[in-house]
Amino acid sequence: MNTTWELGDRTVNRLGYGTMRLAVGAAGGDIDRDTAITVLRRAVELGVNHIDTAAFYFSPRRSANELLNTALAPYPDDLVITTKVGPGRDPSGDWVSAGPEQLRGQVEENIRQLGLDHLDVVNLRIGAGLERGEGSLAERFGALADLRREGLIRHLGISNVGPEHLTEALAIAPVVCVQNQYGLTTRREDDALIDLCAEHGVAFVPFFAVAGGPTPGPADTDTALDQVAKELDATPAQVRLAWTLHKGRNVLAIPGTGNPAHLEENVAAGALRLTDDQLARLDTIG
Ligand SMILES: NC(=O)c1ccc[n+]([C@@H]2O[C@H](COP(=O)([O-])OP(=O)(O)OC[C@H]3O[C@@H](n4cnc5c(N)ncnc54)[C@H](OP(=O)(O)O)[C@@H]3O)[C@@H](O)[C@H]2O)c1
Repeated sequence: MNTTWELGDRTVNRLGYGTMRLAVGAAGGDIDRDTAITVLRRAVELGVNHIDTAAFYFSPRRSANELLNTALAPYPDDLVITTKVGPGRDPSGDWVSAGPEQLRGQVEENIRQLGLDHLDVVNLRIGAGLERGEGSLAERFGALADLRREGLIRHLGISNVGPEHLTEALAIAPVVCVQNQYGLTTRREDDALIDLCAEHGVAFVPFFAVAGGPTPGPADTDTALDQVAKELDATPAQVRLAWTLHKGRNVLAIPGTGNPAHLEENVAAGALRLTDDQLARLDTIG
């Protein structure tokens, strides 16, 4: 199994990391600042060179982008930071969805927070942060394509989208990734979108591949998952991640964790090999 993917003109390890849980921990509270910084530095030491983040990952005391900047700047040359725009908070804290004319401000905010001159990859996240299914993305994606031409963005992606959005975006500018909720037990209707992305050389980057949803799901008690985990001497979370990576060589994982032990497990999951029989048994779950 290939362990790397060409994301635009950058080579990334398929097992990456997502920062959302550093700003808002699994229990909804702040995670310890030193632990967050330790986790980010350890991720890079372990070979993670694709990190997903966003300016809107913040809590009253934590900003994922600030933690990333503090922990890792000056950034390693091979590190690709992917961020996303679209959702934001107004001064009263309510979620808003940026229109085309507001996207520049969001892009510049990410650049400043991360301490960069331009952003490697920017996903246009459809929806006010919460639902997929908005109509056309053309105007907003076109606005980001303009910022790309200006040099503020190197590569573009889209998030929380259907196949029609990918077709629409590709007609406007190159797309390097699609980031959607997807996993062994969630949103399996995107199986076909993974293949469509592969046909166009686009990475498919699932979020909630471990947790299944915004809050961690119930303990994994499914027999097939437990059984495969035992066979591999792995944890159910590792099997979930390995399963996503086996769905296509264009699938990149970005598991989020504020727990150093979970980070080690997640990176190790990138090396797990599932047999056809194990994949078939896991597929019965979805
Ligand atoms: N485009 C979008 O709309 C969108 C939406 C949401 C998220 N994202 C991105 O996707 C990334 C991934 O999503 P996520 O972080 O919410 O979900 P996730 O990776 O599926 O799971 C994270 C949750 O699972 C737990 N976890 C992680 N590794 C574990 C392990 N080995 N064993 C047991 N539990 C484990 C974490 O808790 P611990 O901290 O205790 O490990 C956390 O509660 C985010 O960080 C963010 O960058 C994008």
